[in-house]
Amino acid sequence: MEHAVRYAKFVNQRTDYLAPQPPLPYPSPMPKQIRLNAFDMNCIGHQSPGLWTHPRDRADTYNTLEYWTDLAKTLERGLFDAIFLADVLGIYDVYKGGPETALEQAVQVPVNDPLMVIPAMAYVTQNLGFGVTCALSYEHPYPFARRMSTLDHLTKGRIGWNIVTGYLESAARGFGQSAQKGHDDRYAVAEDYMQAVYKLWEASWEDGAVLRDKAGHRFADASKIHRVNHQGPHFQVDAIHLCEPSPQRTPVLYQAGASTRGRQFAADHAECVFINGPSQKVVRDIATDIRARAVKSGRDANDTKIFTLMTVITGPTHEAAQAKYNEYLDHVSEDGALALMSGWTGVDFSQLPPDEPLKFSERNAMVSALESFTTADPGRSWTPRQIARHAAIGGRGPVTVGSYQQVADRFQEWMDNADVDGFNLAYAVTPETFEDIVDGVIPELQKRGVYKTEYAPGTLRAKLTGRDRLPASHPAARVRR
Ligand SMILES: Cc1cc2nc3c(=O)[nH]c(=O)nc-3n(C[C@H](O)[C@H](O)[C@H](O)COP(=O)(O)O)c2cc1C
Repeated sequence: MEHAVRYAKFVNQRTDYLAPQPPLPYPSPMPKQIRLNAFDMNCIGHQSPGLWTHPRDRADTYNTLEYWTDLAKTLERGLFDAIFLADVLGIYDVYKGGPETALEQAVQVPVNDPLMVIPAMAYVTQNLGFGVTCALSYEHPYPFARRMSTLDHLTKGRIGWNIVTGYLESAARGFGQSAQKGHDDRYAVAEDYMQAVYKLWEASWEDGAVLRDKAGHRFADASKIHRVNHQGPHFQVDAIHLCEPSPQRTPVLYQAGASTRGRQFAADHAECVFINGPSQKVVRDIATDIRARAVKSGRDANDTKIFTLMTVITGPTHEAAQAKYNEYLDHVSEDGALALMSGWTGVDFSQLPPDEPLKFSERNAMVSALESFTTADPGRSWTPRQIARHAAIGGRGPVTVGSYQQVADRFQEWMDNADVDGFNLAYAVTPETFEDIVDGVIPELQKRGVYKTEYAPGTLRAKLTGRDRLPASHPAARVRR
């Protein structure tokens, strides 16, 4: 209860109402349908440090297939577009100069491989998509392309890849490197990586190469299968892609970098962009900039779906939701939140005065994480103490506490004001947060005509964009024969 009192004022601080914004510079179909992803990670303490200790929380069963298959079925019942799985390959050891806080509070460690749980979830669902985070800094494109094609086959075209370059020095050290590459250099590596995987996915096996002709004893027409020769500045590939073409060929491309360089990368490559910010203004500025950049890169503004992070705590009434929120607050770990923030930003928050506004400084981590609490909204400053409270439930995104109707209002308000296509919903307590949304909020959204009542048929890309393969305007199409 002590926490609840301490936070009571803070709840109001998190509400960020904006006046309606000027019309968008491109057409937007009305009413815009809200898209939802569930945000999870193959670990215990994902975005709400400490809440794994809540008696109803099942996050510490992350290492069982049942956790994932039960969750997948729940999400499909709620017609979620996808489950989005985060991942890191290192430990959060920036805070207090070591890994102890992260280890003791289970802050994104232990963390299992996110790819392994996907086939099990695919087996118990028909439509749910899987956006999985894989860092390209630590694996050669040749085996990685095969792994994604395998998953695209096994999921019948429901796989997406969240392209990340990493931000933890501890990951680089784990791979035998003395340090990560510089922030913008990581994106230069990513550009080269993309060219290599596009060639493997799109240019090695032509459509029609696979015959499966048992009577004629011919599985494939070798004249339609080509050796990829990629000689880039960072990667070289001289090989035939090991997999036959999968339903989508290139997985649906997600991206989550939001620095200036990250936005350009998203505008060039991403079909779904995951952004994150503490207020509608911060999110809207990023979203609008990414769409404008995509148009400049020759793509359609609406080909890039933008999801923003949010955590929802809800119940049949406002009072019930508020009571749940208060109950959750008794389990949060502010120390754990600062361990997360320190890892994301590269700034050791234990060294900062708790009540002085945070200032931007150049760091070799997630530039956008630091920007969102400093330069992104000049009208708002954040102290480390406020950030610890903000990030303790749901990480860097906003928390919405309210009845099913209030949450639906809030979704619609963000859709109108923040120029997004939907939400990446983190959990406070899992699977309770997702069950509350599926059983309470989704029916309300459906009643308002802003949420689908059935899945569109086909692959994940077909569900999102109406086509199985990337369009001609996408850079992957340029490598096709
Ligand atoms: C909302 C969001 C989620 C992210 N999730 C991951 C993740 O799961 N794993 C990871 O290594 N990086 C993740 N990142 C990091 C980005 O992909 C990117 O590498 C990082 O933000 C640095 O780029 P930036 O400075 O352009 O934002 C995430 C970033 C954001 C903004």
